[in-house]
Amino acid sequence: MDLRIPRIAIVGANGYGLHHRRRIEPKRRAGEVELVGLCDTAEVVEDPDIPIGDVPVFDDYERLLKDTEPHIVVIATPPPTHLPIAAAAMHHGADVYLEKPPVASLDEYGRLYETMVETGRAVQVGFQALGSHAFGALRDAMEAGRLGSLEAVGVAGSWQRPDSYYRRSPWAGKREANGTLVADGALANPFAHASQQALAIAGDWPLDGDVELERLRCRGEIEVDDTAVWRGVNKGGVTVTVAVTLCGERKLEGDVYVRGSEGEAWLQYTTDRLRLPGDDEPKQYGRTDLLDNLLLHRRRGVGLLSGLRRSKTFTGVLEQILNDPVPRLVDAAYLRRVGEDPVTLLEGADAAVERAARDGRLFSELGLPWG
Ligand SMILES: NC(=O)c1ccc[n+]([C@@H]2O[C@H](COP(=O)([O-])OP(=O)(O)OC[C@H]3O[C@@H](n4cnc5c(N)ncnc54)[C@H](O)[C@@H]3O)[C@@H](O)[C@H]2O)c1
Repeated sequence: MDLRIPRIAIVGANGYGLHHRRRIEPKRRAGEVELVGLCDTAEVVEDPDIPIGDVPVFDDYERLLKDTEPHIVVIATPPPTHLPIAAAAMHHGADVYLEKPPVASLDEYGRLYETMVETGRAVQVGFQALGSHAFGALRDAMEAGRLGSLEAVGVAGSWQRPDSYYRRSPWAGKREANGTLVADGALANPFAHASQQALAIAGDWPLDGDVELERLRCRGEIEVDDTAVWRGVNKGGVTVTVAVTLCGERKLEGDVYVRGSEGEAWLQYTTDRLRLPGDDEPKQYGRTDLLDNLLLHRRRGVGLLSGLRRSKTFTGVLEQILNDPVPRLVDAAYLRRVGEDPVTLLEGADAAVERAARDGRLFSELGLPWG
């Protein structure tokens, strides 16, 4: 066990890296961790709540690793950069907190995994909903037999994204950039957690073959899905269905329907609310922060909640999504544009993803006019 004060560095200090800087700041002030360096290829954003102060700033991660010798490197850069940065960090002796998706293909996954084993370092993947105590309570209930044997897990998510969302970065809404497949699109990016959570609830089994996939887009200017569903059966015989839209009139946060032979549970993976068989109301649970979990892994040997192994099946699903062609464009007759920074709404998309998740159906099996 390592009892030294952990030296943490962040690569990718803007964007989602700002979230990590905010989470680390109170620990730094309390002297629980040391922030030894920030690295970004762009100018690092100043924020009064998270002053950079005398923390060294780098624009090259190799230099950061050499000069600061961190114990932990938080990586919040775009996915195509994850493998080289994570591998370099581990070769420098650091453990890694790697943002989701860890990598975009099984080949990259294999190389990352090998590096992890060779160097003996830890990789925590930023699927933060895996730290949910609702997930833990669901697991306990399953273990106690309250659901019987698990048969199906379905997730429904219905959100909205305005035009400006697709202008947020040069790779937003793109299928490919600089010859690399880009992990954007509803399934690959905002709802990546939905797929990982469903796979974990379904027991972390590998899938039996490829998934069935239906991807649609409601905007001519994008090359990725904003409404999509995938379904697969895992080696434990559990059907997993993930149905999502960014064009839904009604919001569904991220509702997981868990069906067993003896009962059903409902969990909202974004809010940590869980209703078990026999409960009238959902109960609210808390969450273990994945960086705290990594710190305790180093200090006391506590198991990682989102260790790299857990993302392997997810990575296979992601690879299939990214290699799928540009999705079919939905007929304009079913679309509506609303708001000043307009969102595109797809008729009945919210109800469709809900039914798909509950019944384990693809859009094409729901008799939808656009499906
Ligand atoms: N866990 C979550 O809920 C969650 C939420 C949002 C984003 N993310 C993930 O976080 C990662 C970053 O996403 P983002 O939207 O902030 O992306 P982004 O494109 O805004 O990039 C983040 C930062 O990385 C910097 N960067 C790029 N290449 C770099 C390099 N080689 N070295 C150093 N810095 C580099 C960029 O300049 C930028 O400031 C992605 O993997 C994304 O999926 C996770």
